[in-house]
Amino acid sequence: MKAVYINAYGGPEELVYGELPDPVPGVREVLVKVVAASVNPVDWKVREGRLKFLSGKNFPMVMGTEVSGTVVAMGDKVEGFTPGDRVYAGLSHRGGGYAELVAVDYRKVVRIPDELPFIEASTLAIAGVTPMQAFTLHYPVKPGDEVLVNGGSGGVGTYAVQIAKVLGARVTAVCSTRNAMLVKRLGADEVIDYEREDFRKREAAFDVVLDAASNAFFPETKRCLKNGGMLIKLNLSAGSLLLSLWSRFFSPKKLKMILVKNRSEDVRWLIDQITSGKVQVVMDMTYPLEDARLAHEYSQTGRVRGKVVLEV
Ligand SMILES: NC(=O)c1ccc[n+]([C@@H]2O[C@H](COP(=O)([O-])OP(=O)(O)OC[C@H]3O[C@@H](n4cnc5c(N)ncnc54)[C@H](OP(=O)(O)O)[C@@H]3O)[C@@H](O)[C@H]2O)c1
Repeated sequence: MKAVYINAYGGPEELVYGELPDPVPGVREVLVKVVAASVNPVDWKVREGRLKFLSGKNFPMVMGTEVSGTVVAMGDKVEGFTPGDRVYAGLSHRGGGYAELVAVDYRKVVRIPDELPFIEASTLAIAGVTPMQAFTLHYPVKPGDEVLVNGGSGGVGTYAVQIAKVLGARVTAVCSTRNAMLVKRLGADEVIDYEREDFRKREAAFDVVLDAASNAFFPETKRCLKNGGMLIKLNLSAGSLLLSLWSRFFSPKKLKMILVKNRSEDVRWLIDQITSGKVQVVMDMTYPLEDARLAHEYSQTGRVRGKVVLEV
């Protein structure tokens, strides 16, 4: 099969488009013929070796952490799937998605309806389920809550703004001038242009701040939280870990770092929101599989609006 893989951790130049043996599904695995592979910042963080403790050292390492496609074969102990099913599949940090075929544990595979295009379906969990879990598991958002999404125009942010609206929140999105109309269109009640105003300077204004831009540090951000409010960070760091422990016991304002959990029921919830028209998948760019390097370089600019996807 054709795949995009690395033989060593490093820059985008490490990405190789070439031939690898077809994967063989294990007894509990489904073999998926990939149609689309989402490109997420975690992919280039894995490529750079920043998440070695999760991605391991098994080279050649095929990149890609989530895909959509059709089922072509399955192991003996797989239940609930038949060849031809259209599916979403969530992979681990060990990757496998930038390829024509991938074998996935059937419990991480979810059937998708005919009306959901493959390109959109490939983006469901990392960008979409992350904010869904932030606003339901970690800080259960209630109608009328004030939610701020820092980085409202990116992959996570565009989903986050809409999901917070579905949950009944009043949403403030932070982005640059060029993306203000986009986040308004997605339902943001207020837009803060970070080139003109620092949201951190607002006083006790928000119940929850989701930091998809990774630049909201707790000591300076807690001022804008209400008592009982929470800053949710998406990137792990030792400093934030210590502060989150401290905040748990000693502060009325909390800090939490989260890692998306691969839960099929959450992917299904999001599919329902999309097919009922409450959430739209915002697409920025698609690239053919062989141009994965260009897709990584674009993602690394930090200027992506919505999602980037590889077409296989
Ligand atoms: N913990 C987890 O489970 C988890 C899950 C998913 C993602 N993540 C992490 O979450 C982060 C966001 O992911 P993503 O897919 O949303 O990334 P992304 O799509 O690359 O985000 C790009 C967006 O960030 C905005 N941005 C850049 N600088 C900003 C600033 N100073 N203030 C506000 N917005 C700014 C950009 O808007 P402008 O062009 O308008 O500046 C752009 O629209 C990544 O670090 C990713 O690794 C973690």
